Amino acid sequence: MTTLVIGARGSIGRHVLDQLHTAGDPVRAGVRHLSTAGELPAGVPVVRADLTRPETLGPALDGVRRVFVYALPADPAPFAAAVAAAGVEHVVLLSSGSVLLPWTATNAIAREHREVEAALPGCVPIRPLVLANNALAWARSIRAEGVVRVAHPAAATAPIHERDIAAVAVAALRDPSTPGVSDLLTGPDALTRHEQVRAIAAAAGRPIRIEELTPAAARAAFAAFTDAATAAAILEFVRHALEPGGSPVTGTFTRVTGRRPASFAQWARDHAAEFQGGV
Ligand SMILES: NC(=O)c1ccc[n+]([C@@H]2O[C@H](COP(=O)([O-])OP(=O)(O)OC[C@H]3O[C@@H](n4cnc5c(N)ncnc54)[C@H](OP(=O)(O)O)[C@@H]3O)[C@@H](O)[C@H]2O)c1
Repeated sequence: MTTLVIGARGSIGRHVLDQLHTAGDPVRAGVRHLSTAGELPAGVPVVRADLTRPETLGPALDGVRRVFVYALPADPAPFAAAVAAAGVEHVVLLSSGSVLLPWTATNAIAREHREVEAALPGCVPIRPLVLANNALAWARSIRAEGVVRVAHPAAATAPIHERDIAAVAVAALRDPSTPGVSDLLTGPDALTRHEQVRAIAAAAGRPIRIEELTPAAARAAFAAFTDAATAAAILEFVRHALEPGGSPVTGTFTRVTGRRPASFAQWARDHAAEFQGGV
């Protein structure tokens, strides 16, 4: 029963691919550009699968029964049609835990993920709330200046390791009826940004200081790499994380896998090299 991992080079997608491949499950890697195939594990078949290029989807899905895919802003309709035509049994969608939070009706990030979930009825959504990988956005200023610039450094979230998100996705790919796979998915501990930066400093073996930004300055900094609605949505999450329980901690990972999720300190050790050296 072959599984196609669309976005197999992605931070989460590559762990989904690795975990299935290591377990001996037949797997196929989907990438947008075949020139990147060399970055994938040897022995895994690689196909072109681009959600914005519907003509790539039929060949990529030929003989496939299970699919992992990201909730991308591309129009999901051609993908839904290709999946139905190929006789795929189930689709596991990397969505966002924000869709489950009661205050997110007008939040742009939650709305986009809700729309993709709705466009793929019958898919099994995986709903992490805060990716530990978000801290990689601090890597450049840490390497260059030993500084992290953020608004609301007291905001506390429970970031989850990308390997753990993949493990829940793999459980859903193997058995979509696994209880809890679509529940709000978080890491084990709510940590302020001060605590997250301390964990990175310990892992990287260098001092790191925080410079607090005003919300307006943070929004301007986000504007360099995203649109205004997404920047506002991110800041809304951070503001809520200042309130007790505003960014929840759940036991979903343990309920699904029977294991404890990786700590943020472990994530920082796994990524220490990205925070070391100069620019
Ligand atoms: N940041 C958060 O706290 C947070 C919270 C909840 C959920 N999320 C979700 O997590 C996602 C990020 O996950 P990640 O870190 O694993 O992402 P990532 O490393 O940026 O990987 C994204 C993957 O998507 C693939 N992709 C992009 N456009 C595509 C297209 N048109 N067709 C097919 N594949 C395409 C890319 O393929 P190529 O490698 O071939 O280019 C890449 O492999 C976010 O987009 C969001 O939906 C994030």
